[in-house]
Amino acid sequence: MSRTIIVSNRLPTKAQRTEEGLHFTPSEGGLATGLGSIYRADGNVWVGWPGVEIDDPAEQQFVTEELRHDSMAPVFLTQDEIRDYYEGFSNEVLWPTFHYFSQHAVYEQAYWESYVTVNRKFCQAVLALAGPDDTIWVHDYQLLLLPQMLRQERPEASIGFFLHIPFPSHELIRVLPWRRELLEGMLGADLLGFHTYGYMRHFLSSAAQLLGYPNQNGLIEVGQRSVLVDAFPMGIDYDKYAQVAESEEAREAELLYRDALNDSRVILSIDRLDYTKGIAERLRAYELMLQRYPEWRGRVTLLMLVVPSRDQVEKYRALKVEIDELVGRINADYRTISWTPIQYFYRSFPLEHLSGLYRLAEVALVTPMRDGMNLVAKEFVASKGELPGVLILSERAGAARELSDALIINPTDTLQLAEAMHEALVMPEEEQLLRMSNMQALVSTYNVYHWVRLFMDRLAYIKIKQQTLA
Ligand code: UDP
Ligand code: G6P
Repeated sequence: MSRTIIVSNRLPTKAQRTEEGLHFTPSEGGLATGLGSIYRADGNVWVGWPGVEIDDPAEQQFVTEELRHDSMAPVFLTQDEIRDYYEGFSNEVLWPTFHYFSQHAVYEQAYWESYVTVNRKFCQAVLALAGPDDTIWVHDYQLLLLPQMLRQERPEASIGFFLHIPFPSHELIRVLPWRRELLEGMLGADLLGFHTYGYMRHFLSSAAQLLGYPNQNGLIEVGQRSVLVDAFPMGIDYDKYAQVAESEEAREAELLYRDALNDSRVILSIDRLDYTKGIAERLRAYELMLQRYPEWRGRVTLLMLVVPSRDQVEKYRALKVEIDELVGRINADYRTISWTPIQYFYRSFPLEHLSGLYRLAEVALVTPMRDGMNLVAKEFVASKGELPGVLILSERAGAARELSDALIINPTDTLQLAEAMHEALVMPEEEQLLRMSNMQALVSTYNVYHWVRLFMDRLAYIKIKQQTLA
């Protein structure tokens, strides 16, 4: 039977070291949460890193066994690889460049060398598992070289690649010293998928401008092989979010927070701690809203969940300090004895609590500077059921291409964002419900099952087309 081997840097389950030893929890981030609930079908296997350094062979064996029961196969990274490949090349070179933060990029040759080595390591892990009929589906920017490495070993294999972050203008790609290798690496796949049409266009123009490959209707000829490039906006497991939101645990969590906040109106913000997410800018806009509309003081609370992420990378550490200071200052300036303007949590939350918060919030603020898609926006919509609520969404999140019934804002326009918060808080319930149900219709139809099906159908299509063209 043919299966799909999913490959990504991070597995949907992460191992964590505690005093009692290793234990396992769900990973955060859109790739892991999005595909995490559905990948197990049909004997599929997910290959990836369990998120922590494990070099003791006995521990490695224990982790391998535990994950095998849940259809996962770990790739272990050494301390140096975590530093140079993961924190270094992936998150200090590719992440900032692809999100239009080139000024944060650190061009270290050692990072690049480690990136090549670890992509090879993933290649070996996949080859050890994949049968000749298996489909290999590689995910995201940490593994851009992998499709070509796999292609060299398995010329006939069905290889898909999906990028979960933006693909920027070729002007940014051109800055990278390793641009040719990276683009050629991706083109080892048969099908390349992006969240939006815009990212897809950017990739095609990079392939044309930097490698000299023209395309015809998204088809690129690489040697004797046709590679298809297309847009597939990722969805969520809509029914799961809708059902959890109706569960007793979610309702209990909602009540708990509602009571603790003395029935204040709630604006919700949930992100990994990342400079792409616009968290500091959002805080400044909230402060401006409190200045322009003093009537909301004491009556609204910004509930801000920030999930720790990549905390060994300097830019992330600096941002943590900036957010801590901003929250501290705004709270100190505006608080009263009975009201705290910002309730700030720096940790991750279990799904039932997130779901309770999605139910509770009158407004969700999703205002990234750049974001490939942003699944939090879609989860908020799916969790609302029959409840009213307003989504404020950055025009620079991939999700804005689909969720046009949100209040769409420019995240650098602080005044516009402050006004949007006020507008959301006074929006008539009827209008909220109408906008919400339009978005629900879209998010439930174009869910993650639909996304996987569409991608796999296109992959099958291009494999057949390659044979007819050969
Ligand atoms: N998330 C989580 N635990 C938390 C907060 C968030 O698992 O405490 C999840 C959230 O539900 C969403 C994902 O993390 O599914 C974030 O995905 P998104 O696409 O919004 O952004 P990314 O982190 O991938 O950049
Ligand atoms: C984004 C990326 C994922 C990544 C996630 C969490 O969603 O697209 O590839 O897994 O962030 O980041 P981390 O560095 O913790 O894996």
